[in-house]
Amino acid sequence: MFKKYYIYLLLIVGITSCDQKPQLSETEQKVETLLAKMTLKEKIGQMNQYNGFWNVTGPVPEGGDAQVKYNHLAEGYVGSMLNVRGVKEVREVQKVAVEKSRLGIPLIIGFDLIHGYKTISPIPLAESASWDLEAIKNSAAIGAKEAAAAGINWTFAPMVDITRDARWGRVMEGAGEDPFLGSKIAAARVQGFQGDDLSSPYTVAACAKHFAAYGFAEGGRDYNTVDIGLNTLHNVVLPPFKAALDAGVKTFMNSFNDLNGIPATADKYLQRDVLKSEWNFDGFVVSDWGSLREMMDHGYAKDRKHAGELALNAGSDMDMESYIYHEELEGLLEEGKVKLADIDDAVRRILKVKYELGLFEDPYRYLDEAREKEVTGSQEILDGVLDMAKKSIVLLKNENKLLPLKKNGQKIALIGPLAADKNSPLGNWRIGAADHSAISVLEGLQAYNGNTIKHQQGVKLVNKVPAGFHEEVSINETDRTGFAAAKKAAAKADVVVMVLGEYGFQSGEGRSRANLDLPGLQQELLEEIYAINPNIVLVLMNGRPLVLNWADKHLPAIVEAWHLGTQSGHAIAQVLYGDYNPGGKLPMSFPRSVGQMPLYYNGKSTGRPGADGEDKGSVFWSHYGDEENTALYPFGFGLSYTSFNYSDISLNASEMTATGSIEASVEVTNTGTVEGKEIVQFYLQDIHASAVRPVRELKGFELIDLKPGETKKVTFTIDEKLLQFYSANNTWESETGDFNVFIGTDSTTDRKVTFSLK
Ligand code: NOJ
Repeated sequence: MFKKYYIYLLLIVGITSCDQKPQLSETEQKVETLLAKMTLKEKIGQMNQYNGFWNVTGPVPEGGDAQVKYNHLAEGYVGSMLNVRGVKEVREVQKVAVEKSRLGIPLIIGFDLIHGYKTISPIPLAESASWDLEAIKNSAAIGAKEAAAAGINWTFAPMVDITRDARWGRVMEGAGEDPFLGSKIAAARVQGFQGDDLSSPYTVAACAKHFAAYGFAEGGRDYNTVDIGLNTLHNVVLPPFKAALDAGVKTFMNSFNDLNGIPATADKYLQRDVLKSEWNFDGFVVSDWGSLREMMDHGYAKDRKHAGELALNAGSDMDMESYIYHEELEGLLEEGKVKLADIDDAVRRILKVKYELGLFEDPYRYLDEAREKEVTGSQEILDGVLDMAKKSIVLLKNENKLLPLKKNGQKIALIGPLAADKNSPLGNWRIGAADHSAISVLEGLQAYNGNTIKHQQGVKLVNKVPAGFHEEVSINETDRTGFAAAKKAAAKADVVVMVLGEYGFQSGEGRSRANLDLPGLQQELLEEIYAINPNIVLVLMNGRPLVLNWADKHLPAIVEAWHLGTQSGHAIAQVLYGDYNPGGKLPMSFPRSVGQMPLYYNGKSTGRPGADGEDKGSVFWSHYGDEENTALYPFGFGLSYTSFNYSDISLNASEMTATGSIEASVEVTNTGTVEGKEIVQFYLQDIHASAVRPVRELKGFELIDLKPGETKKVTFTIDEKLLQFYSANNTWESETGDFNVFIGTDSTTDRKVTFSLK
């Protein structure tokens, strides 16, 4: 009897413990089967990423470095390549990996698809000004479609770095200064790139980068050190990464910078503790370009071997272009400095993504010449980037309704170094695009034929030496010979349209600036033209916030048109002529002076805000003696050809508990004469907390279209989750107390009500 009972018990225990074993998914089982067949060298190979290193459609390299790398590819010692693109090229490298190596593991082909592949969409900062998540998702999706049709499997995007410093050149590549907006956009971009089915030949795997805090480079100088505490890290920097993860992002890229003394590539807290443990990320982490190697320059790794040890132990799974894992991991394993379990873990993660992309099923599934031809530059993609470009434009000033321009009978002087430029509108990340392939503003205006247009550069562009990968220019700093003709054209014009700003490569990686004014002789030209004809519409093309005090003070109309990509000129012309009513809002504050950097709306009050207390009027409050604290154009700011009126905010309750919620509503009316889009913004302030909270933080927004005279009610729901923050207890939680609610047209709105969390 006892024996019988014992056996029965054992059986139950056995069944229960079997049940508790995690079930491997089909993909995981395949990964395990493959992993079991792999040699150590082959495993390390999967963790090794090479840049395109020989003319892949040409002969096989003989001798030298290229041959060594080619052999690695054939031996299965390369898991990924970047910058190989186009079906023909990708097929060549994929064939070597699949047909020559022992296990035939396909490569994952990576590429910086940042704002379009061959057809270029607006720079990400511009797209973010649309606040239009569907449009942003679509823009990523059409970019993915075009890139995937060219054999690319994986984009190194979205860059989700929050940044508060316009000096940093890479602000063009992100979503601006706000973690809430940045999180929504991060998710939209991931969904756009990856779609619903990663194995579709029209989608690519996405990569949230740069993990983490790259956007907080001191002084806005690219690659510079970052020193921020846990409060800023968790409340400001990490949320967009978490949002990307929740949206299913398959990969992360770590970062060049050190964070509080630890290079991000070797940051165990970020990669292993937060990302892989706390957040349960099951994709893989790629290093940034050579960032393993750079740890020696940082003064952190003593040699290449040490760099490999630090990076793997911290959770960097793939080595982009340092070749350190390839050279050092075996030795490190023999010496017991790294664990086989960590190598296996990295390889599992990489193989899993390859399976999900469908590359094992068919390594050539992305390689179809007919599809490439059909998709590249298709009407669908051209229409998509045009739509996105229009939505990205922000109207900064429009006095006396100078805009929209009349379509007929006008003499327009079109002036400026960027007015006929077909290269700058493409922005910085456009490796796949042909130079000079954008529609210029001149061409865009010429598509309307009711007016006479006289074009003059005024300030010339000069070839830049040395240039980068593409043809580069700079804006002339000394040659005024174009001024006279420009002034003559302005004198005869009804309206002057001036296209000024930064040339396409003036922002982007490595393109930090210590000044934020209009580069070269442009300000001088602007003032001289103004003296002759003040009826000026300034169209800005730039990759970052600029200092525009003079223009704001003097000019009647200013249009922020960023670098809008292939269809730039058409988008701008449609806005200037009123065929599209601009509705974008700034995703970054525009400063009054470069000395205000870093500048952001969601700062802390300080102990001396000088708001209405006794400190104001004296010198002892937090301010500059020679400049305002505020932005010239604040976060969330943007005008329309119509006007909107907001009602007071109504709350359906003034108190809530952690399980309840409150609804905050406003009514918005179009008080103008044309249909328009308004982005209704909702901000919260946690008035007192265990760690000081910002003066306000964006917590919601809604895009509404209103016909003239139409009113819509917009409601935001406040629940406990929305009130959480990374508190003094180093955890995400809400705290009871009072909160201010602000709803309005930009981040400076003073329409306010208060409620309490009990
Ligand atoms: C360096 C950049 O920081 C990163 O964002 C990019 O993806 C890689 N280079 C590859 O081009």
